[in-house]
Amino acid sequence: MPTIAIYPGSFDPPTEGHKNIIERASKLFDQVIVAIAVNSAKQETLSPEERVTLLKGLFQEYPNIQIESFQDQLLIHYVQKKKAQVIVRGLRTFQDYEYEFQMALANKQLAPEIETVFIMADARYAFLSSTLIKEIVRLGGSCEGMLSLSVEKKLKEKLKKSR
Ligand code: COA
Repeated sequence: MPTIAIYPGSFDPPTEGHKNIIERASKLFDQVIVAIAVNSAKQETLSPEERVTLLKGLFQEYPNIQIESFQDQLLIHYVQKKKAQVIVRGLRTFQDYEYEFQMALANKQLAPEIETVFIMADARYAFLSSTLIKEIVRLGGSCEGMLSLSVEKKLKEKLKKSR
């Protein structure tokens, strides 16, 4: 049976840190589904459709990576619907640990058959977050090495419009 892993997140925008985790997960599992969580409580910069398009562009050469979005449902229900066995999460710093630990335990309680697998962030990207990148772009800084060119272009466009 193929091992299907889901990598969920808000990806607003997807960064080089996310890209690195996705690439590494694609070597560990038969299939990786990047699941863009649409969280109505979080103020979004890029629409879910824009995030799907950007991520699809980044991974068009990877046959075992799929990009989707999910909304208004528990992650584990989405994982079960996709017949996946694994949730992948990236760990950047010690601060991530507490939140991730709580979420992994809650998901385990809700669906014991699903495992959460953590991938340590590459040291080059351990400081990155989508909010930090948006601030750098908004204030005219360079985000070389933090964002793919297509993502940077789209983000600049969106942040310009929202001013
Ligand atoms: N590189 C760069 N940045 C990273 C990163 C990496 N490897 N890993 C995480 N981040 C950043 C993200 O950019 C994001 O930054 P931001 O807060 O500035 O936007 C931040 O870390 C949070 O990461 P993200 O993966 O987007 O987590 P989240 O908390 O927004 O989403 C879900 C987590 C979607 C998995 C969770 O909310 C969920 O499962 N929702 C569905 C409902 C549900 O089942 N709830 C019960 C859960 S027990």
